[in-house]
Amino acid sequence: MTKTNHLWKSRWTFIMAATGSAVGLGNIWKFPYITGEYGGGAFVLVYLACILLVGIPVMMSEVMLGRAGRSDPIDSMLKLSRQSAASPGWSLVGISGVLAGMMILAFYSVVAGWALEYVWQSASGHYNGVEASAIENHFGELTSDISRQLIWHTVFIALTAGVVAAGVSKGIGAAVDTLMPTLFILMIILVAYAIFEGDFAAGAAFLFTPDFSKLSGETILVALGHAFFTLSLGMGAIMVYGSYMPSGGNIGTTVLLIAFFDTAIALLAGLAIFPIVFSNGLQPGAGPGLMFVTLPLAFNSLPAGNLMGTIFFALVSIAALSSSISLIEPGVAWLEKHRIPRLASTLALALTGWAGGALCIHYGSVFDFLDYVTANIMLPLGGLLIAIFTGWILSPDRVKNEIGFKSFRMHKIWLWIIRVVAPAGIVLIFANSLGLI
Ligand code: TRP
Repeated sequence: MTKTNHLWKSRWTFIMAATGSAVGLGNIWKFPYITGEYGGGAFVLVYLACILLVGIPVMMSEVMLGRAGRSDPIDSMLKLSRQSAASPGWSLVGISGVLAGMMILAFYSVVAGWALEYVWQSASGHYNGVEASAIENHFGELTSDISRQLIWHTVFIALTAGVVAAGVSKGIGAAVDTLMPTLFILMIILVAYAIFEGDFAAGAAFLFTPDFSKLSGETILVALGHAFFTLSLGMGAIMVYGSYMPSGGNIGTTVLLIAFFDTAIALLAGLAIFPIVFSNGLQPGAGPGLMFVTLPLAFNSLPAGNLMGTIFFALVSIAALSSSISLIEPGVAWLEKHRIPRLASTLALALTGWAGGALCIHYGSVFDFLDYVTANIMLPLGGLLIAIFTGWILSPDRVKNEIGFKSFRMHKIWLWIIRVVAPAGIVLIFANSLGLI
């Protein structure tokens, strides 16, 4: 069932929507802090390898499956497996995707709530002439204040539900078109600030000098998990976005562009944050508070810091919003397909996500569990199954037509990665982190 209001206007709108989904808290908040926790350069190198060898090829598959299936992830997988005379059990990929989306939404909206709180604090001049230590303490105060977190978390879920209920194409398509470039420009300004005011050499060295003694099975699994998380892969978000894509057109170059934008924003965020960490004597391994402590510190000593801080955290919130809508869209599309009105579907899923977020706020262990299990287990597993399904279950002719590479050589390379390299890589990384090899 394809309705015209469920199609993107153009390839560019698809690129912006997928980039909106990809670029989010994963890039600006999570990437710098896990890079800090897992030791810097070596982690970054493994992460880049995962993006190139697993993330990009799997993203191409996921877009292709969506465009070929033309439905929500559960029904797309069902339809494609029937057409290939394969087990309907492949729809489990879609089911686990819908579940993973809700699980991610739960903790994601808590962090997005923190960003909203920082918008408010910056806008109301809270950081004016405040001691650096007070800024550092603010994050700890916020994360131990349950009711304040609940308020902002509720605001964020409501915003997400509002956008999704209104439909994806017009609202979000138009919004991300201007917001994503603005985010990019602000990020460059922050990096410039880090160059002049921070310890840029130390920050860049931390990001780009690999110390391989810091690599362990766990580090590699986290890098792989983050590659999936940051590209929004392995749970059908990109699949459902692909199903709204006009037919024809080269999926390969489209995906390369999305992955390039996503990686650039993550690296720029690292280059904005670590120089400030080192020049203020903070710890790179400070954990989830890293962005929330370093950036207000930087803004505090900037001319027009309040304004910059307000704009920056507003953009982080918007980046989070354009990502969170893709977390519930697969489930909403599925309910809608089964004749539940879009508004009711959205409300049901938003409420579930809200309840999960409330649990995360009350119990830090729920937050950590959801974050770990989705990124490091469910998404890579989803990606593994997507690669196997594309490479070994769908008919090779159909795959070749759908993916639409112009060069036969590129097609062969991609197919070889999808059949062998990506699945083997994911299995080896799983086995290694379980201590089996
Ligand atoms: N990619 C987003 C980020 O980095 C998070 C996200 C949105 C996501 N949709 C997803 C992660 C789907 C996995 C799957 O912030």
